[in-house]
Amino acid sequence: MIASIISLLVAAVALLGGQAAAYNRRFIENSSDTEQVIISGASSFNGLNLVPQMGWNNWNAFQCNVSESLLLDTAEAMVNFGLKDLGYNYIVLDDCWSIGRNESGYLIPNPLKFPNGMKYIADKLHSMGMKFGMYSSAGVFTCGRYPGSLGFEQQDADLWASWDVDYLKYDNCFNQGQSGTPQISFNRYNVMSQAINKTGRPMIYSLCNWGNDDPYDWAYTIANSGRMSGDIYDQFNRPDSRCPCTEAVGCAWPGFHCSVMNILNKMAAIQSRTMSGYFNDMDMLEVGNGGQSDSEYVVHFSMWAMHSSPLLIGTNVLTLSPANLAILSNPAIIALNQDPSASAAIRKWQYFIDPDETGQGEIALWTRRLANGDQVIALLNAANSTMKMNATMNEIFLDPRTAGAYHEPEELRKTWDVYDLWANRLSESEASAIINSTPMIGITNMNSTKTPRATRYNATTTSYADGLKNNDTALLGQKVGSIEPRGTWVAEIPRHSVGMYRLRARPTTRMRKRDELY
Ligand SMILES: *[C@@H]1O[C@H](CO)[C@@H](O)[C@H](O)[C@H]1NC(C)=O
Ligand SMILES: *[C@@H]1O[C@H](CO)[C@@H](O)[C@H](O)[C@H]1NC(C)=O
Ligand SMILES: *[C@@H]1O[C@H](CO)[C@@H](O)[C@H](O)[C@H]1NC(C)=O
Ligand SMILES: *[C@@H]1O[C@H](CO)[C@@H](O)[C@H](O)[C@H]1NC(C)=O
Ligand SMILES: *[C@@H]1O[C@H](CO)[C@@H](O)[C@H](O)[C@H]1NC(C)=O
Ligand SMILES: *[C@@H]1O[C@H](CO)[C@@H](O)[C@H](O)[C@H]1NC(C)=O
Ligand SMILES: *[C@@H]1O[C@H](CO)[C@@H](O)[C@H](O)[C@H]1NC(C)=O
Ligand SMILES: *[C@@H]1O[C@H](CO)[C@@H](O)[C@H](O)[C@H]1NC(C)=O
Ligand SMILES: *[C@@H]1O[C@H](CO)[C@@H](O)[C@H](O)[C@H]1NC(C)=O
Repeated sequence: MIASIISLLVAAVALLGGQAAAYNRRFIENSSDTEQVIISGASSFNGLNLVPQMGWNNWNAFQCNVSESLLLDTAEAMVNFGLKDLGYNYIVLDDCWSIGRNESGYLIPNPLKFPNGMKYIADKLHSMGMKFGMYSSAGVFTCGRYPGSLGFEQQDADLWASWDVDYLKYDNCFNQGQSGTPQISFNRYNVMSQAINKTGRPMIYSLCNWGNDDPYDWAYTIANSGRMSGDIYDQFNRPDSRCPCTEAVGCAWPGFHCSVMNILNKMAAIQSRTMSGYFNDMDMLEVGNGGQSDSEYVVHFSMWAMHSSPLLIGTNVLTLSPANLAILSNPAIIALNQDPSASAAIRKWQYFIDPDETGQGEIALWTRRLANGDQVIALLNAANSTMKMNATMNEIFLDPRTAGAYHEPEELRKTWDVYDLWANRLSESEASAIINSTPMIGITNMNSTKTPRATRYNATTTSYADGLKNNDTALLGQKVGSIEPRGTWVAEIPRHSVGMYRLRARPTTRMRKRDELY
């Protein structure tokens, strides 16, 4: 996150002074390859984060207004609303928590904001089944001009480990000009990666260098996720000169005030560089912050899940509306995010047809193959009016690698049942009932026997993978039709909405005939 103009200017000078980012061609040529792992042998460098991290981060809603009670009350609400048991288990404290370093060089937490210190918070969170995320910058200051960790990496990592911290978000402000090529950025971020490793404490390492120097090409060897664009803002598609790039690759000036559609479309060229253990981070969610309509938030949440972006709730959970709880707690969408395929979606087509505030008004088809052979399609209407949208079997299943091949993909000969992933969204009254139910724990009474109101799914008792094996309707959504071999899926999608469908192949008749022979 970028908190001050001053830090931006410093970063700009650093960028202009450095060489233009040397983008690695090897990776772009086969960028629409999904099944082939582009970076061969890649997997989580530290064994953590095989599926994207989920949780909450205070920045989007509270910026520097952080405190012990904010973190603990939010965690408690997340337990009570069933969000923890849907998978949102990291409470990530962002900038502005420290006041400086003590005589021995250790960071000092702000005693007014955190009167009991950080270990106390970690202990409380752990007793609730949650985990604790910490923030710093790979610079001499954080973006909010608090002390950064550049040059203090091991000392800071040791301190966090002594507090039982589980996660580090590591920003890019005041980096002393140590950027401009992938190698320079790699070296700077690698120091902290090694420092964390040396502590011996497993911690998720979340790079936040805004996509500078193309982290999706190198950060998988040292980190668990990496931001791929400038900072998000709570707008669906409004262009902003402070977020000038429309492509992630080689973007010299990532900036901030990037809209949902701006960030989403930057994923198209880098989707192949999302993998188990390293996720392209599209930035924290804005759902609930008031700048978008309900259907726009549905698009935002759906597409972040579809791309295996980390899902960090970025709003005030204590004042969450029923509608926003219903969006954030749709297990059929979260199951896409937590799918073991750990991949991002491919944009099969994009047309600009019906001008809206961007002057373009696009519609697009995104698809993704899931680990169990299901296929998910997103028919996205970011145009200004309702559209009848089509996805043909060829569009869904042909990819550039197989298009010219002699054998057509067998998927084209199958019948696919179509499940609408938003059909079972919690109603307003169901979501209100969850929000208004009796609180379960109470920070002061951990022994209460009350249980939280169940949402539709409890991933603590049944993993998403097991739920899918059991054909749990909470994860499948509702069957709304099927696509015959070589058929087309047609749906009417309102303005600024998305149709999210999980496709499941029916067993082929060919198989059945062969069975009969034996
Ligand atoms: C792209 O993929 C094709 C087919 O798998 C392969 O022959 C080619 O070498 C790849 N190109 C690069 C630059 O890796
Ligand atoms: C800071 O956050 C608290 C809630 O944690 C809120 O009550 C207070 O009004 C906020 N202060 C400012 C200045 O925004
Ligand atoms: C500095 O902070 C560290 C970590 O909290 C602590 O162990 C140490 O005693 C402090 N040193 C001084 C001189 O205050
Ligand atoms: C440190 O790195 C080694 C080698 O990559 C790895 O096996 C180990 O799990 C890491 N430890 C931690 C705490 O991340
Ligand atoms: C978008 O549609 C609304 C009506 O729904 C209209 O008022 C507005 O002018 C349209 N915007 C553009 C850029 O055409
Ligand atoms: C969908 O298909 C119909 C019939 O083929 C066509 O008229 C319509 O333009 C298509 N819609 C889009 C958005 O391509
Ligand atoms: C919770 O129960 C345990 C064991 O029954 C007891 O030792 C502890 O004091 C209780 N804690 C609270 C906060 O009541
Ligand atoms: C989910 O299941 C766990 C373990 O069975 C239970 O402790 C928890 O209360 C359940 N959560 C909800 C929201 O029902
Ligand atoms: C789930 O549904 C598929 C058909 O879509 C079926 O083959 C499978 O047996 C079902 N699994 C269970 C556990 O019911």
